[in-house]
Amino acid sequence: MNVTKVTDDTYLLSVNVENILFEGLWEIPNGVSLNSYIIKGEKTAIVDGVCGWDGYPESLFNLLDKLNIESKSIEYLIINHMEPDHSGWIESFKKINPDFKVVCSKKSAELLEAFYGHTDNITVVKDKDTLDLGNGHILKFAEIPNVHWPDTIATFDTLTGTLFSCDAFGSFGNLTESNYDDMLDEEKLDFYENEAVRYYANIVAAFSMPVKKAIDKCSPLPIKIIAPGHGIVWRKNPTRIIEDYLRYASYQKGPAKEEITLIWGSMYGMTEKAVNHAVKILEEENIKVNVHRVPETSWGTILASAWNSTGIILAMPTYEYKMFPPMAAVLEELGKKKVQGRKAFSFGSYGWSGGAQKELDEIMNKYCMNWEFIEPVEFKGSPREESLKLIEVKVKELVKEVREAVGATVNS
Ligand code: FEO
Repeated sequence: MNVTKVTDDTYLLSVNVENILFEGLWEIPNGVSLNSYIIKGEKTAIVDGVCGWDGYPESLFNLLDKLNIESKSIEYLIINHMEPDHSGWIESFKKINPDFKVVCSKKSAELLEAFYGHTDNITVVKDKDTLDLGNGHILKFAEIPNVHWPDTIATFDTLTGTLFSCDAFGSFGNLTESNYDDMLDEEKLDFYENEAVRYYANIVAAFSMPVKKAIDKCSPLPIKIIAPGHGIVWRKNPTRIIEDYLRYASYQKGPAKEEITLIWGSMYGMTEKAVNHAVKILEEENIKVNVHRVPETSWGTILASAWNSTGIILAMPTYEYKMFPPMAAVLEELGKKKVQGRKAFSFGSYGWSGGAQKELDEIMNKYCMNWEFIEPVEFKGSPREESLKLIEVKVKELVKEVREAVGATVNS
């Protein structure tokens, strides 16, 4: 729980949340911060909110105490979007301060009623609408739908150049006392970069086109500070996170980084023998490889890795005429998150019949994933020398394709 000054009249209130699954689904090994902002003009506004994951806003009230702000003095609540990680405190807040005014998009207003039965004192805003808080703080709104919910807006303080961007430009990872890019060394910035990719891949990935549109819309604004709903605030170099997000969006259709993600599962160690051989070859080829076993590795970790990787290797046995089920589940998720346009190769063991390949084709078609596969290698039982040799050739071919695809982007 933390209160810090962002810039003149503007404060960040943040709470770290750990030991939960974000959205009830995503593992967050390094936690996540929920960020709320206070803007003090002649009138005071709060942008989004923070509360414990149980929906109780004591954390927020404690943070307001630290700033000597009476809850009742908050005149405006600006809802950038209605997902309950930002809005879960509203019902309790209403009991303390029944007269606050809400500023939000039309869709947020509908959701506000649906989630919390709140219909009073709502001002619906659209692109370029403004709200004057006094003392020069004129807030301007921009609709950025589907980043990440359809109701999302960004709020821009024209006086301080601060863009309150909601989920856009956010990251996982707990905050410390050093919540700002200007207070972090390169190692720490790398930590938040990894957390940003994980956040993007898990939460925003399916909306990469809206992300690009949102960046196009907000770019003409004279942005000095980016203040997202999760993660660090960018004061020194906001362009860095904007460019990172543009890069993440471009990874959707590939190519991404010069990396290969190898996802594998094995029942009795037959496919595992071939995996060990493939990893050895990849290491000899001196390419970065991320190896994840299913079902042991969480979907969130695999998604982040696949999002970053131009090449993907799938290694799994056939299981009862189908693909090894945890691999099928992960691939379905990659399809839903639109991990597209990868260079790929698959191999695996079968017993009395094949079938994994057929299901793989079905999933690729179902989600229009457009992965370019090298011819697969399926072997009966344990992999013999001949199969291992073939896998070696194909792995080297994949490495070559990945390098060519990334090189073509760099040179274009
Ligand atoms: Fe951070 Fe989409 O809520």
